[in-house]
Amino acid sequence: MTCTDFQSMRRLIVFMPLGLLSLLTSGCQPAASSSPEIVIGHFASMTGSEATFGQSTDNGIKLAVDEINAAGGINGKQIRLITYDDKGDAREAGTAVTRLTTKDGVVAVLGEVASGLSLAGAPVCQESGVPMVTPSSTNPKVTKIGDMIFRVCFIDPFQGSVCAKFASEHAGLKAGKAAILTDQASPYSVGLQEEFQKAFEKLGGKVVTKQTYQAGDQDFSAQLTAIRSSEPDVVFVPGYYTDVGNVALQARKLGLTTPLLGGDGWDSSKLGEIAGSAIDGCFYSNHYSQEDPNPRVQEFIKKYSERHKQTPDGLAALGYDAARILFAAMKRAKSLDGKALAAELAQTTNFEGVTGNISIDGDRNAVKSAVILEMKDGKPKYVTTIQPGA
Ligand code: PHE
Repeated sequence: MTCTDFQSMRRLIVFMPLGLLSLLTSGCQPAASSSPEIVIGHFASMTGSEATFGQSTDNGIKLAVDEINAAGGINGKQIRLITYDDKGDAREAGTAVTRLTTKDGVVAVLGEVASGLSLAGAPVCQESGVPMVTPSSTNPKVTKIGDMIFRVCFIDPFQGSVCAKFASEHAGLKAGKAAILTDQASPYSVGLQEEFQKAFEKLGGKVVTKQTYQAGDQDFSAQLTAIRSSEPDVVFVPGYYTDVGNVALQARKLGLTTPLLGGDGWDSSKLGEIAGSAIDGCFYSNHYSQEDPNPRVQEFIKKYSERHKQTPDGLAALGYDAARILFAAMKRAKSLDGKALAAELAQTTNFEGVTGNISIDGDRNAVKSAVILEMKDGKPKYVTTIQPGA
């Protein structure tokens, strides 16, 4: 009998004596400690204008799942991954997490990439007592949802200061005047923009104009014309890659040649494909560089490229790290009950990840360095590393 048959049957037998019921359900309840496998969930934008976010993360997680299963699983149990496509939509994200926690009985949830979608899924995990680890959502509000919510990446107050410091100090920029173009409906974009401005002004810089757009907009000419006449040294665009690619194309068409600067949301092989040479000479902060000579990074790139026939971006690396940190916590935990697992996740110290050494702090965030990458011939090239506290 398959699990699905079983679930419909379970509905028919709810009035059976408890002893008989538990006997029947053993082996089909993914979360039960006696089950032969452990089910984990992933909610992700597998389609839509942020599709590479979800796809790369899922590929990173799959590599980690393959490895742990090949090595015997967690205390003898194999890991099974269930991934749902939230299409980059907040309502879909909430529904996906509800399904994972109520119907699929997952012991933990991985996701999302976009902070706005993590903010939609996290309350569901928190309420149902299922730990959630976001690989890459950087908005501070995400982990503030509650003690079940963790992340393995740095947060935007740090990322904003990294971008501001780079804008004002990098030899090619030495920016005194910045223009900002924000996606006004994205918690990530709005939050990062605030942090950038704060840090940039503290360094003596001036924000000369602030313009906004909405994800999916096709025409940025009004905003870019206003930005052009404000004569900035740099244009800060804390958006996601599809919009950023279109912004770069239209900026160059309008004769605005000022370098663009952004955050991790630019991280996609699609950015260079969309913008072509329009994005060359622009910079963004990220969690990882493919050029990092660290053997740990290079070994990951080799394994990932063999498995998925593509080079891993930062999201693939973060997905891999998030899954491995979860598995390490599962191995240490006395049980896979949500509270016990969350307690072990909170203990994560000096985990040797592909994206750096990861320790979870008291606010369930990770404190890590960031890299700055420059787009050259449509590809990100390593420029520098900025440490926390620098
Ligand atoms: N940090 C972004 C957010 O919070 C997501 C992201 C991370 C995108 C890393 C690309 C790479 O929305």
